[in-house]
Amino acid sequence: MATKRVKRNCGEKGVQNEPDIMAEDRISQLPDSVIYYIFSFLPTIHLVRMSRVSRRWRRMWVSTPFLYFDCHFDDVTFTEKVNRSSMFLKFVGNCLRCRKLYMQPDTFITSFKLHTYDKLGHHAAQEVDNWVRFAIQSRVKELDLQVGEYCIPQFVFTANSLTQLRFHALGFEVASLSTSSSLTQLKLRALKLESIISIEAPNLFQANLSLTDGGYGSASCFDLLHFLAKLHGLKKMKLSTFWEEDIIFPEDIRNTSSPPLPNLKHLEASLYDEHKKNSELLDFLVWCAPSVETLKINGKILL
Ligand SMILES: *[C@@H]1O[C@H](CO)[C@@H](O)[C@H](O)[C@H]1NC(C)=O
Ligand SMILES: *[C@@H]1O[C@H](CO)[C@@H](O)[C@H](O)[C@H]1NC(C)=O
Ligand SMILES: *[C@@H]1O[C@H](CO)[C@@H](O)[C@H](O)[C@H]1NC(C)=O
Repeated sequence: MATKRVKRNCGEKGVQNEPDIMAEDRISQLPDSVIYYIFSFLPTIHLVRMSRVSRRWRRMWVSTPFLYFDCHFDDVTFTEKVNRSSMFLKFVGNCLRCRKLYMQPDTFITSFKLHTYDKLGHHAAQEVDNWVRFAIQSRVKELDLQVGEYCIPQFVFTANSLTQLRFHALGFEVASLSTSSSLTQLKLRALKLESIISIEAPNLFQANLSLTDGGYGSASCFDLLHFLAKLHGLKKMKLSTFWEEDIIFPEDIRNTSSPPLPNLKHLEASLYDEHKKNSELLDFLVWCAPSVETLKINGKILL
């Protein structure tokens, strides 16, 4: 269904004779920049649907700087019964094909979000690589990927237009990487300490990290220490974890190592486990970030 709609809405052909229902519509009189701002809040499937009622929006959606694909957003179109995952991937593929064919020349992508939790096969993963590559060629600034068991290709990290990168529980092609100097914000969700990688990001200013439940597993606190120390330029950090035991390093390690985040000024920690007084955690966090100026734990301001 969705794929047919996309095909039908791709060009202006075949729609010239339809009555222009929205001719009198006030929204359509807004300047392109305002309409694109409105688009920035909407999942792309809505833009595709809206494009049926206005010729102008039909022209505009193929050039929108904001692409937002979420498999779970639309339970009607991507229903379980018809193999949601494969329909969703077809929909995204068709949208991007339309874009390549009909977009205005020199159109950039500001933000590209792709969210699907279903596990991808090899072929689908390659397709996702191509979409991500296309976003990067379109000078994407914000990339947000939550794709089941997708391995982030290395070229993402060296994309020099990218300023914000968000991803969820993904694998990496290499265990140690460095990012382009344009990257200033990073969000990593469901980070497993056991697969922990090292990311060197010279101009990273803010990081939001959430660790999965399960503690260190086969990793050691040295791995986490090393990981944080690579992010030593950070000024702001949000750190979420299940239990404080998952992150606190033993005292003897603190006594013999240097604090990993010497430049951090603002820190917000959140824990699933709220029963404790958090004084041990506070000591630990202040050790990690000795220059910290504001510190919150589970919303409580402690510094
Ligand atoms: C859905 O389709 C994909 C690819 O076409 C396939 O790999 C997957 O097994 C299918 N899932 C179900 C539940 O049929
Ligand atoms: C990190 O969290 C802050 C505060 O919630 C938010 O404003 C910021 O956009 C987040 N950064 C990223 C890259 O998601
Ligand atoms: C760490 O250093 C403090 C202060 O120097 C000391 O009191 C404490 O016993 C040391 N702890 C360990 C486990 O070495």
